[in-house]
Amino acid sequence: MGDNLYHLLQQLNAKSIKDEYNFQRDTTIKFANELGKLNLSFKNKSVIEIGSGWLPAVPYDLIFQYGANEVRTYDINEHYQSAIIKKFNKYYGAIYPKINLPSDILANTVKYFPRTNLIHQSFEESSIDAVISRNVLEHVSAEDLVLLHEQAFRYLRPGSFIIHQISPSDHRAYTDRSISMWDFLQYSREEWDRIQTRFDYHNRLRMPEYINLFKRCGFKILHLGYKSARNGQEIPTSIHADFQKFTTEELTAGSIIVILTPNK
Ligand SMILES: C[S@@+](CC[C@H](N)C(=O)[O-])C[C@H]1O[C@@H](n2cnc3c(N)ncnc32)[C@H](O)[C@@H]1O
Repeated sequence: MGDNLYHLLQQLNAKSIKDEYNFQRDTTIKFANELGKLNLSFKNKSVIEIGSGWLPAVPYDLIFQYGANEVRTYDINEHYQSAIIKKFNKYYGAIYPKINLPSDILANTVKYFPRTNLIHQSFEESSIDAVISRNVLEHVSAEDLVLLHEQAFRYLRPGSFIIHQISPSDHRAYTDRSISMWDFLQYSREEWDRIQTRFDYHNRLRMPEYINLFKRCGFKILHLGYKSARNGQEIPTSIHADFQKFTTEELTAGSIIVILTPNK
């Protein structure tokens, strides 16, 4: 496990379930608001989540707060732990007492597929209504992102949607305040590969590259939102040639939320 994943796991142990739930809940609220503006919702939907992480917070909210029928959640690692699921069910049941949850296993409408790469799974054509991911795509190679979206184009039904939150910043900045959120843009691919072997993989794709990739895989962009750099979050003075074609706004776009629909 890379240092960064190890750190995240430690953070979850240190952070309360309540803090982590509230943090993830902010995202599901944003997702539901942006989808609502487009007259889209999770109601009665069969949803695929890419990158389950450590807590079933997003799947539970999609089902119990926004009416999804089921969430199939995939992760190339296995981070859910029965002790944490038990604690989370207890916490979730206490804040939403009308929901009937099992005490120590996942709600039966959440299907967890750990240690599973979605690109190797097969689904019937037009059998899924929605795909979501939260802070995952930046950890996936560009090649796998293409395969994931070409595959989603096939299994999503017409009129369905994908909603992603992408965090394209240098994640080392979360634990090392001396590093800027875009520090990694100064390195060549080879230099970054050497540095990041000690951390969680980060593809360093910039916002326009994600957008082009989604379009190439057959998707139309229904919504694109992001945060621009705040004062004090300076980009490094030397940006590697690979990134010089982008504007500062494109380089530093953070907390990207994008909604896609298959053009079919
Ligand atoms: C930063 S965590 C985010 C987890 C969760 N979505 C959240 O918001 O807390 C990234 C997760 O994506 C998973 N992951 C990385 N690459 C993946 C891939 N190609 N397919 C599915 N999951 C992946 C990691 O194992 C990890 O659980």
